[in-house]
Amino acid sequence: MVPDYSSSTSKRRTGSVAGLPDPTALDEVHFEESDRIVTDSDELNRVMGGGITRGSITLVAGEPGIGKSTLLTQLPRTLGSSSVLYVSGEESVRQVGARANRLGVPGDRMHVLAETNVETIEAVVRSFDADVLVVDSVQTLYHPAIPSAPGSVVQVRECSARLMQLAKQNELATFVVGHVTKDGSIAGPRVLEHLVDTVLYFEGDRHHTYRLLRAVKNRFGSTNEMGVFAMDESGLTDVSNPSELFLANRRSGIPGSVVICTIEGTRPFLAEVQALVADRTYGAPQRMSTGFDTRRLQMLLAVLEKREGLALSDRDVFVNVAGGIRLDEPAADLGVAAAIVSSWRGKPVDDGTVFIGEIGLGGELRPVSRMNQRLTESKRLGFSSAVIPERSKPSMGDSGLKIVSGELFADVI
Ligand code: TYD
Ligand code: MG
Repeated sequence: MVPDYSSSTSKRRTGSVAGLPDPTALDEVHFEESDRIVTDSDELNRVMGGGITRGSITLVAGEPGIGKSTLLTQLPRTLGSSSVLYVSGEESVRQVGARANRLGVPGDRMHVLAETNVETIEAVVRSFDADVLVVDSVQTLYHPAIPSAPGSVVQVRECSARLMQLAKQNELATFVVGHVTKDGSIAGPRVLEHLVDTVLYFEGDRHHTYRLLRAVKNRFGSTNEMGVFAMDESGLTDVSNPSELFLANRRSGIPGSVVICTIEGTRPFLAEVQALVADRTYGAPQRMSTGFDTRRLQMLLAVLEKREGLALSDRDVFVNVAGGIRLDEPAADLGVAAAIVSSWRGKPVDDGTVFIGEIGLGGELRPVSRMNQRLTESKRLGFSSAVIPERSKPSMGDSGLKIVSGELFADVI
């Protein structure tokens, strides 16, 4: 039933009632672009939804050593005239200062405070004129009235609630660092996720140079947006062409290596999937994957075994997404399956071909979203052909690629 809005006027209050707050009419609510600080880092802007929103609080979470402090220390480099107050609970003023210096941060854009008492931090922030507040890390903060240790759930919750208020009242863009371990066992970031406006996860393989910054929650932009950075001696720099980076170490002519195209947020990029099918060494056959969901892998193996007649039950299967990135899109299915078949046969796939598509339990190929964008990116990186689901064809423009398509996985492999 369509609600009758015409009668709703009668429900509006006719005048202010003492002691009650007045709801604001929507057309009196203003959001201006100046509420965002647009940085010089396209990658950071992208994950933040177009810039850093004043009065918002962002959690930057990640494993120790991944680069959270580096990212936030070098922030003033990209902020123009906006000033940063960096509160460190982990390092001394000298340590932060030394790092900032080495990162080339202009000395007049950043102030450093080594402090862990949240009440003191509040007082300093109120008396200080900064555009951006960084707190590194939330696990070191404490409120003197709470007996629990810093890093405990109560402390983390109380301290972040206070930072939240501080951010809103002072129109401060606030970044809070939170450490997580691989199993997410440390109290803190999980508790915080509900409280803050934006949650960014900093990921990446510490043995590789690049780092991924993912927005898993954003009240001011779309989630799943991803920024890519490279870490070197001068800190983190934007990687505007992630596909090139992810494919940089690919060697041609190797069985089990396949290129796929995935979309993170609004951006398509290419990645290499590697599979290795080997004779079972002992016990139950192993199914292991890095960068691809293991249950999804089990499902693909069952489909390959049942529909395509691949004898896999006594083989070990390993899948690896090169470079430590993680694919969580079904559009990677076709590439993963093709890599497994390629390794099983011991035959490499064509070097210039990209694989895009989802696989169903019947071995059918399902269309995936934004095929055009994926094909354009593949073309841009010099690929000459694409294997895709038949049903993706109608929605497809002229990509300039040779297209191989089919209804079933068996048709294209
Ligand atoms: P850091 O930002 O301290 O990590 P987190 O705050 O997440 O614990 O970064 C730690 C790593 O980054 C450290 O191993 C050294 C490396 N690093 C560089 O490679 N280049 C740099 O310019 C900086 C500052 C750090
Ligand atoms: Mg740190």
